[in-house]
Amino acid sequence: MNTSDQQSSTNQPSLIKAYLKKRKEEIEQALNALLPEPEGHSKRLNEAIRYPLEAGGKRIRPILALVGADFCRRITTEQAYRGESWAGVDMEFRQALLTVACAIEMIHTYSLIHDDLPCMDDDDLRRGRPTSHIVYGEAMAVLSADALHTLGFQMIASIPERFALEGFRVVRELAVACGYPGMVAGQVVDLEYESKPGNEEVLEFIHLHKTAALIQASLQMGAIMASGQDRDREILRKVGYNLGLIFQVVDDILDVVGDTRLLGKKTGSDQAHAKLTYPSLIGLEESKNRVEKLKNEIMALLEPEKDRAAILIDITNELVRRQT
Ligand code: IPE
Ligand code: IPE
Ligand code: MG
Ligand code: MG
Ligand code: MG
Repeated sequence: MNTSDQQSSTNQPSLIKAYLKKRKEEIEQALNALLPEPEGHSKRLNEAIRYPLEAGGKRIRPILALVGADFCRRITTEQAYRGESWAGVDMEFRQALLTVACAIEMIHTYSLIHDDLPCMDDDDLRRGRPTSHIVYGEAMAVLSADALHTLGFQMIASIPERFALEGFRVVRELAVACGYPGMVAGQVVDLEYESKPGNEEVLEFIHLHKTAALIQASLQMGAIMASGQDRDREILRKVGYNLGLIFQVVDDILDVVGDTRLLGKKTGSDQAHAKLTYPSLIGLEESKNRVEKLKNEIMALLEPEKDRAAILIDITNELVRRQT
């Protein structure tokens, strides 16, 4: 990797792919240990809690939490790609950070269960499997999502007390991102604008709230755990904002041109519900231009950071060209 490449990207997709795969495995191992075992009177509930998480998913939000922590710990991209993110880290910190990362995935997964319900997007396929309400019925789907929502916060509250201040800040960050000031508000306005004319201002509100808020919070939560400096946290906040918007615009595009088998969810859902999306409002080509513009903003933000930022640019590129 030469220095000029580091400023923009490593230009080596195989490295970021291998990195994401390894971190995904790490998250899944930690998740499995944190989820309740199906037994006793709670057997079916605990199965329903595990079901959508065991189905897979990209785990991009928990991975971003780990990357946010690495950024603040000044782990270089080269070190990260060599698998040295944990070098010199004590086991308790490692476990606490992984637990916080898993909490994000629990909250995200609860949001997907609700998003797919008949009263919301009414989708029957998620992560390549029938949705929770199809398998377990609506009541259990709602309740298992409730349980995952609470479990996320329970997990954060379970990290060792030496991280009490970080845990408190993480809870504040997550609650704002996923509650009424964040994701829930975005979901509400998303539903309100079904079959209703909208404009770019409303659409940006929807995307920033329903999706970007949690993505931005993921980077922040990692940064908080790593006691990141204000300046680093500010860079990550701006990167997270743009990356979160990219993520949902690409999701909208994939709903039109993606492949159900790769996505693990049915395409055409947005059109079927007359959703307000970027392709429906400004067209596919202009949506792709928006993605490029947001990507360039991320590049500009990270350019001065050289060694440690290439990984975030590589992740951005992966999320721009994703098919899953
Ligand atoms: C889907 O999120 C919901 C959106 C916010 C677009 P992901 O695309 O991250 O879904 P999984 O977690 O990989 O299944
Ligand atoms: C959902 O947006 C965002 C969430 C908060 C779950 P979408 O409704 O577009 O997500 P998909 O396409 O069903 O995954
Ligand atoms: Mg939705
Ligand atoms: Mg949906
Ligand atoms: Mg979608």
